[in-house]
Amino acid sequence: MEWYSINTCRVLVVSVVLLSYNMLLISSPAAATTDAQVEAEAEALRNSTWWWYMENTTSDHCTWDGITCNREGHIIQIYFSDHYEPMIKLSQLKFSSFPSLLRLNLSQSSIYGRIPDEIGTLTKLTYLSISDCGLDGELPVSLGNLTLLEELDLSFNYNLSGAIPSSLGYLKNLIHLDLGSNSLSSVIPSSLGSLTNLEYLYLSSNRINGSIPSEIGNLKNLIHLDLGSNSLSSVIPSSLGSLTNLEYLSLNFNQIKGSIPSEIGNLKSLIHLDLGFNSLSSVIPSSLGNLTNLEYLSLNFNEINGSIPSEIENLKNLIHLDLGSNSLSSVIPSSLGNLTNLVELSLAWNSLVGAIPSSVGDLINLTEFNICGNQIRGCIPFEIGNLKNMASLDLSNNLINGEIPSQLQNLWSLENLNLSRNKLSGGIPPMYGGISIDLSYNDLEGHIPFELQLKHSPEVFSHNKGLCGEIKGLPHCKRGHKTMLVTIIAISSILFLLFSVFSFLLPPWNMRQNQTKTPSIKNGDIFSIWNYDGKIAYEDIIEATEDFDIKYCIGTGGYGSVYKAQLPTGNVVALKKLHGWERDEATYLKSFQNEVQILSKIQHRNIVKLHGYCLHKRCMFLIYKYMERGSLFGVLSNEVEALELDWIKRVNVVKSIVHALCYMHHDCTLPIIHRDISSSNILLDSKLDAFLSDFGTARLLHHDSSNQTVLAGTYGYIAPGKYTIVFLSAFTLSIYLLNFWLFLF
Ligand SMILES: *[C@@H]1O[C@H](CO)[C@@H](O)[C@H](O)[C@H]1NC(C)=O
Ligand SMILES: *[C@@H]1O[C@H](CO)[C@@H](O)[C@H](O)[C@H]1NC(C)=O
Ligand SMILES: *[C@@H]1O[C@H](CO)[C@@H](O)[C@H](O)[C@H]1NC(C)=O
Ligand SMILES: *[C@@H]1O[C@H](CO)[C@@H](O)[C@H](O)[C@H]1NC(C)=O
Ligand SMILES: *[C@@H]1O[C@H](CO)[C@@H](O)[C@H](O)[C@H]1NC(C)=O
Ligand SMILES: *[C@@H]1O[C@H](CO)[C@@H](O)[C@H](O)[C@H]1NC(C)=O
Ligand SMILES: *[C@@H]1O[C@H](CO)[C@@H](O)[C@H](O)[C@H]1NC(C)=O
Ligand SMILES: *[C@@H]1O[C@H](CO)[C@@H](O)[C@H](O)[C@H]1NC(C)=O
Ligand SMILES: *[C@@H]1O[C@H](CO)[C@@H](O)[C@H](O)[C@H]1NC(C)=O
Ligand SMILES: *[C@@H]1O[C@H](CO)[C@@H](O)[C@H](O)[C@H]1NC(C)=O
Ligand SMILES: *[C@@H]1O[C@H](CO)[C@@H](O)[C@H](O)[C@H]1NC(C)=O
Repeated sequence: MEWYSINTCRVLVVSVVLLSYNMLLISSPAAATTDAQVEAEAEALRNSTWWWYMENTTSDHCTWDGITCNREGHIIQIYFSDHYEPMIKLSQLKFSSFPSLLRLNLSQSSIYGRIPDEIGTLTKLTYLSISDCGLDGELPVSLGNLTLLEELDLSFNYNLSGAIPSSLGYLKNLIHLDLGSNSLSSVIPSSLGSLTNLEYLYLSSNRINGSIPSEIGNLKNLIHLDLGSNSLSSVIPSSLGSLTNLEYLSLNFNQIKGSIPSEIGNLKSLIHLDLGFNSLSSVIPSSLGNLTNLEYLSLNFNEINGSIPSEIENLKNLIHLDLGSNSLSSVIPSSLGNLTNLVELSLAWNSLVGAIPSSVGDLINLTEFNICGNQIRGCIPFEIGNLKNMASLDLSNNLINGEIPSQLQNLWSLENLNLSRNKLSGGIPPMYGGISIDLSYNDLEGHIPFELQLKHSPEVFSHNKGLCGEIKGLPHCKRGHKTMLVTIIAISSILFLLFSVFSFLLPPWNMRQNQTKTPSIKNGDIFSIWNYDGKIAYEDIIEATEDFDIKYCIGTGGYGSVYKAQLPTGNVVALKKLHGWERDEATYLKSFQNEVQILSKIQHRNIVKLHGYCLHKRCMFLIYKYMERGSLFGVLSNEVEALELDWIKRVNVVKSIVHALCYMHHDCTLPIIHRDISSSNILLDSKLDAFLSDFGTARLLHHDSSNQTVLAGTYGYIAPGKYTIVFLSAFTLSIYLLNFWLFLF
């Protein structure tokens, strides 16, 4: 008991002492100024009218949008981002009322007007951003008082004008300085060279003139330097070579003169280098080859002469290389073929000589290749046909001769092809009709491929030796119907004669089979053929299906959707358009090529007829004979139709498929295994005659090919292994027969 009372007493004494101390504090003069300061800050916010939309302005201002107070109730952060009208004047906020402010972000708000001198009173500020607003007038010198600033962003106000105050040199803590996209003029103050903590410096898109101060070499921590789109003249200071942390350097769109200092080779971290649109002269320093991290290099629109240094082959990471519009006069170094990451390559409008090196064919990721306006001679290397991603190829305005290599038809991403103003001769190889082409001013002759006639005006074929076609403004092809007929008859008779002679001389079938091992169409070389009376055109297909509108879709399968299209000629065809192209490019392309390859090899009464196809990034479909009754599976699952397919007809279905399989396995030069025979891959026409379709997983059976172990096709219908097929045909047939009887009955 005693112990308790003593303890209670102690607690009491302590409490009383604490209480009186607290009361002392509250009534002290220091506390009074704090209160007055907090009230002054609240009043300054109210007076600014920036928060005019607040209904109760007497409420605690620390709870207002974008206001953060510290424990004492002082405002330390204002993040103001309204999207309301009207425009609000910056000077309406009395900066001197916020001595505790650490961070001020007014970006992307409707703030406008001049930056008041008073901003210099925010001496605790570490972050100041008023970008993308409507500021104008000059930058106040007092900005130099914000010595704790780490980030200063006044970009994208467009109308900030006058000089950059040299007082900014006092902001020793600055890491990020962005004054880009304004109307600042005069010179870059050399005092900026004292901002040794700077990592990001953007002064681009202003009207800054004079020279780049050599003091910029002191900014050893700089990662990003953008002085582009100004009026800088004079030369690139060699001190720039000290900025060894630099990853991004842009000085483009200025009037910089002189040579590229060889010290640029010290900027080992550089990823992006843009010196384009200046007046740089002399040669490309070979030290550029030291910048092995470079991904983007642009020196276009200068007066650079000499050669492309062979050291450029070290820039293995280069994605974009533009040396266009200079006075380079060497050959195109074949070592350029080592830069296999290149996506864009322009050497246009120089004085380059020699031939296009065939190593260009190694640049498999290239989508844009432009060497127009040079003095390039020689032929177009056929290796260019390897560049499957090529979208734009411009070889115009050179002295290129020889024929257009037929491999250009493999460029199935091509959209623009300009070969105009060269010395190309011979005929035009077949090409995808959707591309935009210019072949004018060459020595080409012969018939313009039908696909190319559809879209193009005669100008792009003009000034050649003798191109003809059905385009208005071009001569019609001379050979009349009569002469053509005579020629055809003559050629066919000769062929027939030769064939008859050879069939006598050649060994019997089984030996002939061993001689032809390569399929006639190699994978990847397929472009497009139109062999349906020569009358189907890409445009017809698009029109007939309203660009593959869903209402024409009659079925969807694993590899694609099937559409029904009525052509202008009245014929109805089925189109199988591959979907999921982006998802798994290789598989789908393979399946497509497989089907074309197989079907173009075979012709049989019971195998669905392929009329044509289109293989291009923008059009990927196969054109088949239309089967009125759809798949056998469909017919069998419909009670009425299943009845119509009586026993006699079912036997005929089985017979037809057996004929087709027999033909594929034994009568083709290379045996073909379908590998996915199922009732959904058997189609029926209006008379319920059966046709085998869907050769997406089929396989050519080379006699010397290794054992196939990968399974393909629909389970339950997977075809037996190759040995069974090759050697035991009778057994195979009975297996199939059994399979179908089981299925049908
Ligand atoms: C707010 O405005 C009133 C009247 O316009 C003025 O008397 C007062 O000094 C202003 N307060 C501050 C902190 O600017
Ligand atoms: C405004 O806010 C203050 C403080 O939160 C409160 O006392 C007052 O009643 C409010 N006035 C109105 C009109 O809501
Ligand atoms: C400043 O405000 C802008 C616009 O609201 C915003 O995008 C940006 O992230 C803010 N900056 C910081 C550091 O929060
Ligand atoms: C900036 O600082 C200087 C001296 O350091 C002082 O004279 C000047 O008044 C300050 N300017 C502002 C706007 O605070
Ligand atoms: C800049 O000033 C011009 C003329 O005073 C004005 O028309 C334009 O809207 C201003 N631009 C911005 C972004 O405020
Ligand atoms: C830079 O521009 C200012 C005004 O914008 C002009 O007075 C000065 O002569 C210019 N200097 C040079 C070197 O062009
Ligand atoms: C940089 O390039 C130059 C010229 O090609 C060469 O002499 C020098 O050794 C290279 N320096 C380094 C560090 O690779
Ligand atoms: C390149 O141009 C400079 C002048 O800018 C000239 O002195 C030099 O001889 C030229 N070099 C070549 C190879 O043309
Ligand atoms: C560039 O490729 C050629 C062969 O095309 C090769 O001999 C050479 O060593 C390669 N250069 C580099 C730097 O890899
Ligand atoms: C081509 O580009 C792809 C993807 O953009 C990339 O994965 C591949 O490595 C590149 N090929 C070469 C040879 O650089
Ligand atoms: C092809 O290049 C020539 C010369 O370089 C140019 O005049 C023409 O406009 C280009 N054609 C097309 C279709 O762009």
